[in-house]
Amino acid sequence: MAGKPWVRMVTAQTPTNIAVIKYWGKRDETLILPVNDSISVTLDPAHLCTTTTVAVSPSFDQDRMWLNGKEISLSGGRYQNCLREIRAQACDAEDEEKGIKITKKDWEKLHVHVASYNNFPTAAGLASSAAGFACLVFALAKLMNAKEDNSELSAIARQGSGSACRSLFGGFVKWIMGKAEDGSDSLAVQLVDEKHWDELVIIIAVVSSRQKETSSTTGMRDSVETSLLLQHRAKEVVPKRIKQMEEAIKNRDFGSFAQLTCADSNQFHAVCLDTCPPIFYMNDTSHRIISCVEKWNRSEETPQVAYTFDAGPNAVLIAHNRKAATQLLQKLLFYFPPSSDADLNSYVIGDKSILKDAGIEDMKDVEALSPPPEIKNAQRSKGDVSYFICTKPGRGPVLLSDESQALLHPETGLPK
Ligand code: DP6
Repeated sequence: MAGKPWVRMVTAQTPTNIAVIKYWGKRDETLILPVNDSISVTLDPAHLCTTTTVAVSPSFDQDRMWLNGKEISLSGGRYQNCLREIRAQACDAEDEEKGIKITKKDWEKLHVHVASYNNFPTAAGLASSAAGFACLVFALAKLMNAKEDNSELSAIARQGSGSACRSLFGGFVKWIMGKAEDGSDSLAVQLVDEKHWDELVIIIAVVSSRQKETSSTTGMRDSVETSLLLQHRAKEVVPKRIKQMEEAIKNRDFGSFAQLTCADSNQFHAVCLDTCPPIFYMNDTSHRIISCVEKWNRSEETPQVAYTFDAGPNAVLIAHNRKAATQLLQKLLFYFPPSSDADLNSYVIGDKSILKDAGIEDMKDVEALSPPPEIKNAQRSKGDVSYFICTKPGRGPVLLSDESQALLHPETGLPK
């Protein structure tokens, strides 16, 4: 290591993901090993991602982390496991320009600073831990010059949060549950990249909720202990569905994709109901969205939209193409209009061009929307949806080389 104090930094950006075949239930709580395989689609980081800067310096006296500007503790087991595992993979690293040389041995003594920022509200329940742990592991791996590929890194991110392992790739990703007791073969692989099925459009309805939700970790522990349906699902249902889903994705067969996605989301929530005490993640608004999509899909020759819900009431709606997404947004805004004109701009965020395609520019256009023909006596209700995010499948993690995007100060290694 060089004589005078220095700071070496790396900044990375990692997407979030939504499962279309769900992970629910662990066979090992500490290593985070699941009871079944799962498949997800990665969401466009332009709208939903985590940016993380990691820094190392001989002047740091402890590992520290700031999340969205606030210091948080790194003492939890999951952070500690990720830090230990990634340190074990560290290699010699050199920065000739700054005159920094760090040997494999040095990494054991050096401390790191981590600053992480989500470009979406953490409280909205949009898989922030998945993007967060994936980004932490990816950035540290680059900082420490680890030679592992993204699948190998996914097995480390998995120990932070199960779903995080699927955020190391873009497009469609499979988390293989693995068999090994040490978890070494429980990792993510990319099925296809984001270009393979680029007509898909994703609309997320962030649903207003008063209820404090049961965390995924606690919920799935209770399900493993009490739900017989979970055992049946993991053994009999998911293995077949995984094969069918892989085929549907490979062939861009939207009909099968939608049928499998909706059925799997519904089964996951059925497992939650089958848990003792029962867990309710969806609310009335979630149920109304399901019914709207189901009725529309039935009225068409083939399904136009798939829905899926994680451990909360938010709906993730995957539309077959832009035309279907435009019609979907019209229907959604009919049922769930914003509360005022000024709100429209902050009510539909992300890729606003879909709003334009739908011919909606102001509140007058929203008021003029006609009721979807497939539903009788359709009711409109303001306030049940907080906002919509229009997005699409997206790419995997990237390094941000522009130092102006770093969240830590290049000289002090403290938050900017
Ligand atoms: C419903 O990955 O948040 O989103 O591994 O305990 O951190 P831990 O749980 P987490 O669970 C995600 C569950 C899910 C389904 C999924 O993403 O596959």
